[in-house]
Amino acid sequence: MANNRTFTMIKPDAVKNGHIGAIFSHINKAGFRIVAMKYTKLSAEKAGEFYAVHKERPFYGELVEFMSSGPIVAAILEKDNAVADFRTTIGATNPSDAAEGTIRALYATSIGENAVHGSDSDENAEIESNFHFAGTEVFA
Ligand code: RTP
Ligand code: MG
Repeated sequence: MANNRTFTMIKPDAVKNGHIGAIFSHINKAGFRIVAMKYTKLSAEKAGEFYAVHKERPFYGELVEFMSSGPIVAAILEKDNAVADFRTTIGATNPSDAAEGTIRALYATSIGENAVHGSDSDENAEIESNFHFAGTEVFA
């Protein structure tokens, strides 16, 4: 994937708390275009696979349980410098460290239940996009 796309999920906490619309509005205002989107739910197995990089971490079980606890929204976003700019837009993992006005500062409730996912590299953006959207049309 070129450096103009990233992958995001609106996590189960933000969906449950009614923040889908506000978060995508924030994302659009930050200059990202949505090129693919899906309202879906991860099984525990799929959530575990998605976050497999963290499987040795103490929070892995909790993370898998949380990410499979309810529906999510998966999306591919387009913007120049998408991965880095989106990480800036969402803020730090722990909402208490997230810069003012970032999505996590506004909508996350804890370090575990932190409203959104953002890819951390172009390579992972491509892997994660394929994880959710392989075989689906992605609009340019
Ligand atoms: P993400 O992958 O979801 O965009 O989050 P991130 O890069 O900011 O953070 P990462 O280190 O990749 O952690 C993945 C997710 O695991 C949960 N977590 N819980 N309880 C804890 O100490 C803890 N640490 C991380 C969060 O949901 C985090 O987003
Ligand atoms: Mg991460």
